[in-house]
Amino acid sequence: MNTTTETLVMGIVGTGLMGRGIAQIAAQAGIVVRLFDNRAGAALEAREAIAATLGKLADKGKLDAAALDAALGRLHVADALNGLADCRVVVEAIVENLDAKRALFRELEDVVGDDCLLATNTSSLSVTAIASACRLPGRVGGFHFFSPVPLMKVVEVIDSELGETWVGDTLTALAQRVGHRPIRTRDTPGFVVNHAGRAYGTEALRILGEGIAEPAAIDRILRAAGFRMGPFELFDMIGLDVSQPVMESIYDQYFQEPRYRPSPITRQRLAAGLLGRKSGRGFYVYEDGKAVVPPLPAAPTAGATPIWVSARNPLLREQVVALLRAGGGVIDAGERPSAGSACIVLPVGGDATTAVLDEQLDPRRSVALDPILIDRQLTLMTTPVTERASRDAVWGALGGAGLPLTVIHDSAGFVAQRVLAMIVNIGCDIAQQRIAAPADIDDAVTLGLGYPKGPLALGDSLGAGTVLRILNGLHDFYQDPRYRPSPWLLRRARLGVSLLTPEA
Ligand SMILES: NC(=O)c1ccc[n+]([C@@H]2O[C@H](COP(=O)([O-])OP(=O)(O)OC[C@H]3O[C@@H](n4cnc5c(N)ncnc54)[C@H](O)[C@@H]3O)[C@@H](O)[C@H]2O)c1
Repeated sequence: MNTTTETLVMGIVGTGLMGRGIAQIAAQAGIVVRLFDNRAGAALEAREAIAATLGKLADKGKLDAAALDAALGRLHVADALNGLADCRVVVEAIVENLDAKRALFRELEDVVGDDCLLATNTSSLSVTAIASACRLPGRVGGFHFFSPVPLMKVVEVIDSELGETWVGDTLTALAQRVGHRPIRTRDTPGFVVNHAGRAYGTEALRILGEGIAEPAAIDRILRAAGFRMGPFELFDMIGLDVSQPVMESIYDQYFQEPRYRPSPITRQRLAAGLLGRKSGRGFYVYEDGKAVVPPLPAAPTAGATPIWVSARNPLLREQVVALLRAGGGVIDAGERPSAGSACIVLPVGGDATTAVLDEQLDPRRSVALDPILIDRQLTLMTTPVTERASRDAVWGALGGAGLPLTVIHDSAGFVAQRVLAMIVNIGCDIAQQRIAAPADIDDAVTLGLGYPKGPLALGDSLGAGTVLRILNGLHDFYQDPRYRPSPWLLRRARLGVSLLTPEA
């Protein structure tokens, strides 16, 4: 099928939120669109809504009058499924229900020609399971857009187990024609975007569940790490009624893979109706549509207690000493700490307790500082027996350094280390399973999830060896297979090559 030159006729079945968006970008790209919905009047409403959207774009000068008229002229309402008979491709965006989709595809096969491509916009069902209901399953593929379709310029092109190569190739060309970045992916639970997105929220929930830090503190740390929204702000925006079923479904579809394990916290909160922004209360309380964010606890003033910094990494020590001096701290520069000094350790992948005992320091007088992203933010972690005076001495001195500072309880890998390492590890495992090409995984995540970097580029920037150290530390500490490193990461860290390195 030539998707670029001939006048392509595309059917859209299901003209709700997604169907409308797909129809709009297709019509704008010169494709003739036939809209069908089984609710009477819905397709016409959709056409009117698209016309209103295009009209607004024209008012803002983003679309000229001729382009507006031409796009509108390409949008046709079909009163019955039969009206889709001349379509060369049909994109389905009906209710997310396997039986409904299988029944629709069977019906469609009686209407369209044998060379018509049938695509599904499903976000969580198996494209293969939909295809297997068809007389010609080879012509079925996944075409997974994100909402809002015109703005989210990425689409997953899913090859089903039964799909013929031309189907994925055609959908890839079609994606490019409508101005979207195609991500070619195998038919696996969550495809790439929803699979790669498992780490951020679930690891944050583990941190919360362990009593390490409150949602606002975790959000603050991860925003400082470069994310547009913290995980709990994101849960609140999406709503637990949407995100909890996705977490449970991907976990179950991967047969309880511990890396994707959801949390009882969100199950319980969903049962309580604490959905997020839409219910007025989620992890935050909303007043006049705005989250009430608890204020940052004020830092104590830097006292006269000398502060000793671990010299295991001399460069890092220098950096921390400079921060302490900037905040008015008194430095204990001895090889070992003097009796009255507070101590700072700088573990990667370890907790404060283990790091402190490892350096034979007094845990009552010691805290840990996260050495990762130390130029952007400071996370201070206490052992269970750290005395308030020692904690406050360090907090006071670092608090004056001008960077956001968060104090948390003991955690192997603080907050940022473990969340970032989990994002990298899951991204690596998507590459290892050959679900998509390395560069596609990163583009899917930056475009589909809005992360500052794709998981593989993120791993490269932290250093594959560092990510491996964090994961090994978490794995040793928690004895939980959730943290076992992906073979993709392990091998590339050992070889010292980029995580984006594909295999020949
Ligand atoms: N909403 C999202 O953010 C999003 C993102 C990606 C993918 N998806 C997927 O896209 C699909 C549609 O989602 P949506 O949010 O647009 O839903 P929606 O409820 O807004 O629209 C669905 C439309 O399909 C119609 N419909 C239902 N059954 C039908 C049938 N048998 N034949 C014809 N029309 C039928 C409904 O009348 C409705 O107009 C789902 O598979 C969903 O999982 C949704």
